[in-house]
Amino acid sequence: MTNPKLTIRRPDDWHVHLRDGAMLEAVAPYTARQFARAIVMPNLSPPITTIDAARAYRGRIEAAAGPGFTPLMVAYLTDGIDGAMLAEGHAAGVFTAAKLYPAHATTGSAHGVTEVRHIHGALAAMEQAGMPLLVHGEVTDHEVDVFDREAVFIDRTMAGLVRDFPGLKIVFEHITTEEAAQFVLAAGPNVAATITPQHLHINRNAMLVGGIRPHAYCLPVAKREKHRLALRQAATSGSPKFFLGTDSAPHRIETKEAACGCAGIFNAPFALESYAAVFDEEDALDRLEAFASENGPRFYGLPFNEGTVTLARADNPIPESFVTGDIELVPFHAGETLRWRITG
Ligand code: DOR
Ligand code: ZN
Repeated sequence: MTNPKLTIRRPDDWHVHLRDGAMLEAVAPYTARQFARAIVMPNLSPPITTIDAARAYRGRIEAAAGPGFTPLMVAYLTDGIDGAMLAEGHAAGVFTAAKLYPAHATTGSAHGVTEVRHIHGALAAMEQAGMPLLVHGEVTDHEVDVFDREAVFIDRTMAGLVRDFPGLKIVFEHITTEEAAQFVLAAGPNVAATITPQHLHINRNAMLVGGIRPHAYCLPVAKREKHRLALRQAATSGSPKFFLGTDSAPHRIETKEAACGCAGIFNAPFALESYAAVFDEEDALDRLEAFASENGPRFYGLPFNEGTVTLARADNPIPESFVTGDIELVPFHAGETLRWRITG
């Protein structure tokens, strides 16, 4: 078949950073162009920890994204956060989920959880309320090598969470290792994972061979090739446990190209095309719709979207950067040509 077309139900992004202010204005339209809904990360400064803050942030996102896009809000868990407040926000339709950032694991996690036992009350309330827990799964122990932090987190923390809260819906966010894929597959139906486009396309060589390439740096950091292949296998396997979450995380070019560059890859402009290229290469285009548009809503207990998006196999040259006002952003795949584009 030459130049195939693929029409799928309109997809959602189950993990995105939309930021605030001028950056929100610059990036929200890219996500809204591709996705009907998105789970919006709460790691602002200060983080989104109250119902009122989430409501107000939702309003700013709606204004920046325009009509036809639904932001799904997330509470940022802190030590001792009130479980009753989380359940109330969930029941009111404000908090779709809550996010566990281990303190100091990544950007905007300084107010995160220092010990999981400090949020046991909140987790029990969420389990009771049917409110999903989203997990940044990396240990922060300085003794642990950065490439091992996800695998060690499974043994030290994730396994205990799954054991102690058997009814809690848990999303292991942006998995990057074979160990995480295996853990999620072996767990019950209440445990799922998101997978980013970058972790399907690149391994750690992309960051380090021929010079340090800051635009390939995100957290969790890309791992060895065997992990990328395991993630490709998981994403395209047809298992309902894996779904689309871009982790698009924009940072201004000057904060990426710096002596201490920020973690995060801005993939929102061509996310679906990037996933389509992977599914095509894996001869699994027939499974893209489940990954992008069905597995997520089914796990969250939300309706499927109406409407469709059509992709065609056609050359799609990716710009070196996008400039909005004084914000310059380098997208994932900058300067490459993707083989898929959105046509309708
Ligand atoms: O690379 C990342 N960037 N990983 C995260 O966990 C946070 C994100 C950000 O907010 O920039
Ligand atoms: Zn993220």
